[in-house]
Amino acid sequence: MSKIFVIHGPNLALLGEREPEIYGHVSLKAINEAMKKKAQDLNFQIDFFQSDHEGEIVSKIGSLIKLGIDYLIINPAAYTHTSVAIRDAIGAVKIPTIEVHLSNVYAREEFRHKSLIAPVAVGQISGFGVQSYILAMEAIATLGLK
Ligand code: DQA
Repeated sequence: MSKIFVIHGPNLALLGEREPEIYGHVSLKAINEAMKKKAQDLNFQIDFFQSDHEGEIVSKIGSLIKLGIDYLIINPAAYTHTSVAIRDAIGAVKIPTIEVHLSNVYAREEFRHKSLIAPVAVGQISGFGVQSYILAMEAIATLGLK
């Protein structure tokens, strides 16, 4: 059974209350529950981590090989646009990674149009709200099917 690890970056613990006109009304807990259900359907093991701190996210990514993780789904949130350290951590562990965003970052401010993470990810899913995470899991399910 493949193991998926999900990392939620800064301010995502506030989902449901945070700018609902952009991010919707669904809480992080509800997103994780929806992903757990999808993981059962697709026969994946799944675990979750949220942090507002760049260094904690970097250390967590560094620990994923020892944990036997096969795939990473990450919403790096604001660190998408700034963090060389998170990009390098993903590049170092070489775990196939899907970058996820709730909002369509390309339809927003220009500073959100640049992702430092995208070049080290298998691909990016942006703009589908909670479904972005579910689509990422479906993408992983098809990765071995080429
Ligand atoms: C986000 C988009 C980022 O630009 C922003 O900083 C976030 C959330 C998204 O999921 O749409 O915090 O990653």
